[in-house]
Amino acid sequence: MLLRGFVYGLLVVVLGVMIVNTPPSIEALDNGLALTPPMGWNSWYPFGCDVSEKNIKDQANALVKYRLRAAGYTTVIVDDCWSGDRDADGRITANARFPSGMKALGDFLHSKYFKFGVYSSRGTRTCMDFTASEDHEAQDAQTFADWGIDYVKYDNCPYTVDGADMERRYGWMSAGLQATGRPIVFSIAMWEFKDWHPATGNLSRTSGDILDSWPNMLEHFLINANYAAYAHPGYWNDPDVLRFGGGMSTTEYRSYFSLWAISAAPLIISANLWGLPKGTLEILTNKEVIAVDQDVLGVQGVQIGNSGPGKTVWSRPLSNGDYAILFLNEDAAAADISFDGSWLGLTSYTVRDLWKKRNLGTVSGVYTASVESHGVVMLRISPRS
Ligand code: GLA
Repeated sequence: MLLRGFVYGLLVVVLGVMIVNTPPSIEALDNGLALTPPMGWNSWYPFGCDVSEKNIKDQANALVKYRLRAAGYTTVIVDDCWSGDRDADGRITANARFPSGMKALGDFLHSKYFKFGVYSSRGTRTCMDFTASEDHEAQDAQTFADWGIDYVKYDNCPYTVDGADMERRYGWMSAGLQATGRPIVFSIAMWEFKDWHPATGNLSRTSGDILDSWPNMLEHFLINANYAAYAHPGYWNDPDVLRFGGGMSTTEYRSYFSLWAISAAPLIISANLWGLPKGTLEILTNKEVIAVDQDVLGVQGVQIGNSGPGKTVWSRPLSNGDYAILFLNEDAAAADISFDGSWLGLTSYTVRDLWKKRNLGTVSGVYTASVESHGVVMLRISPRS
């Protein structure tokens, strides 16, 4: 009986992966990295162009103090505004905000068991008009490797309409990084998905810059969902950072985090960690929700049903045969939302609520929960038969 259950579970998972997750004849970038979605911290929203060696170190210390590093947020990414001029040999340098240089900052981060991420751009200048990598792709890749960089976010400024040029230049940076022999995650920030991205990068931004607002966050989630079939260990769709700056309620931030987790999205916090409210920290460190995001099966969730407009049910299969199920209520009032086990071929299953951290027993058929306005209910269910 047990064996039969196991074989069935395996079959469901394998078939599920084949059906849900077969990228439409796409080559994958095979650099062996980002086998689960990257987790870390990014300087852009808290600091913009006030980013500095000092505040990067301060935030790294906060990641340790608030146990965010322990929860998995291990890549510290210096976004735009760090670069200075090129030297006589054409090598990119750091500007005066990084007086000890990037190699020293990398050494500091590595000594604290972090990975070191840096930003550059496809064109000659970054979006904030600092030095970027055009025509220096291989050279910059080597400089980044020499500095001990583990992750490169590659932006798309200055804007061009020449799609072929974009593809070529992202390709050159990707190849340049691979040629260094150092494992470096390549994060494409082109503000839209292209079907060559999974063969070029480990993650790709599927939309423009996220706002710290409920409707905009939802829009990013929904756009990102269109590309679910492409996600797999080594390539992830990126709906942008966790911009937890105070523009939403705790309920909305809990939804935001859950939506990213059901999507197998990168979990990159972009907020000043010293000012984070306790409720926000609790959201960011919910181990069971993080475990859904980081599940090694690497399947991005999809919508499997609804209880009316704006009351949707999402699901992703997990590596041990469980499923994560998410109820999302976009309405201004609380609403009942239901999941029907038959949607996944299940007659009976046990239910655990990942926010209440409670087992809710065995359910046959339909499970219904009341979901607060702009809230979610996030479940982990285990098939019984
Ligand atoms: C673009 C990117 C952002 C950020 C800024 C920095 O807008 O999409 O994520 O990196 O540039 O200038």
